[in-house]
Parts: sequence; structure tokens; C-alpha cells
Amino acid sequence: MIAPSILSADFARLGAEIDAVAGPGDGRADWVHVDVMDNHFVPNLTIGLPVVESLRKHTGLPLDCHLMIEDPDRWAPGYAEAGAHNVTVHVEAAHDPVMLAKNLRAAGAKAGLAIKPGTPIEDYLDTLKHYDTLLVMSVEPGFGGQSFIPDVLDKVRTARRLVDTGHLTLLVEIDGGINADTIEQAAEAGADCFVAGSAVYGAGDPAKAVAALRDKARA
Ligand code: DX5
Ligand code: ZN
Repeated sequence: MIAPSILSADFARLGAEIDAVAGPGDGRADWVHVDVMDNHFVPNLTIGLPVVESLRKHTGLPLDCHLMIEDPDRWAPGYAEAGAHNVTVHVEAAHDPVMLAKNLRAAGAKAGLAIKPGTPIEDYLDTLKHYDTLLVMSVEPGFGGQSFIPDVLDKVRTARRLVDTGHLTLLVEIDGGINADTIEQAAEAGADCFVAGSAVYGAGDPAKAVAALRDKARA
């Protein structure tokens, strides 16, 4: 699955930017990745609930909300209520990740757990069984356009193994620095879903970029 990140889109024309990857065929996004940043958990500030509510009305594509915020226990369920398909919270920020996953599901969303490049996955294997998605960050969260950190692929492999051996039911998502050069290694390591911001919205034709990434991920 390919999830274009609107962090690299033109915020003055968000609806049109999403429509650009909502057409039929291989250029259609599977999810639209929405990066919510609060200027506390990460040193950047983006968009929040009102924008997600508007996007929900605008597009039929599932919204994959990645919350880079403090105290997600308090704020994340609101994104589920706003109609997000996935609500992903950071393990470094969540106070009670198990309860939070339950609350997200009760509010009608899939629950996602995100992990920063320097955070070991081993400490959270028990937590993961409560989640639908694991988002492995392959850059430091906060900004688009950074270089892919290959060391995080070990986490993708660990999660893939646990899923394939039936110990976990999870989609493995990778986020940061995914482009035509890096997507193959991420696919090979076992990622199911690929977030791409600059590689999609920095390209002249976003749908074509989605189709090209999909092609490489399948190779
Ligand atoms: C970074 C965000 C990413 C970002 C990826 O904190 O979580 O989703 O948009 O952008 P690229 O694909 O340009 O690395
Ligand atoms: Zn993201």
C-alpha cells in the first residue's frame, strides 16, 4: 500500500492535492497520510482536527493520521471520532498505550503505534498485540524531505517475523525518506505500507509517482 503524505503538498490547495492521487488505477493512493505535529513532541507545527474533519468530507480515501503530539491519550480519540481510518500515536508519548488502543477502536478507528528511529521495538512487543498498525519511522519525526535511515529495517524485519509466524496481526508501515531508491529495501524487509511525502508531492505528477513507487515495492 502507498500512503502519500500531504506534509509535502501545497497546504493552500489540499483538496486538489488529494484529488491528484484519488483517481483510478495504480496511481490511486491507498491511504492519505496526515502528519499532525504539535510543536512539543516534535519541533514543528502542522495541522489538526479541523483540517481532518474537512478532509473527511472532501475525500473518500482513508485518512491515515500520524499524531506527533504529546498526550495522545487525551487527543487521539478525537481524530477517530472525526472519521480517521487509522489513528497512529507515538509509543514515546503515550501514557497508557493499551488503553489508548482500546479507546481508538471504540471510537471507530484502527489503532496505530509509531516508533522513532532510536526507540527499541523489543520493549513494546507485548503492547503491539493491541494495535492494528506499527509505523516504523525511518527519519526523525518532524520534517519531510530527510534521508532514509536504513538501520530501522531491523525493526521492520522483527515485526514481519512476528506477523508471519502468527504471533501478531499487524500492518507494518514505514515512514520517512521513502522514494524510488529506498522503497525496495523497505519492501524486502517486509513493510506492507509505504508513506511517501516529497517523493509524491515533490514530483511533477503525483499519481505517476504513486504508480512508480507501487511498481518498485512489488518488484
Ligand atoms: C515526518 C513525517 C513523514 C513525512 C515524510 O515526520 O512523519 O510522514 O511526511 O516525508 P518524506 O517522505 O519526504 O520523508
Ligand atoms: Zn508521518
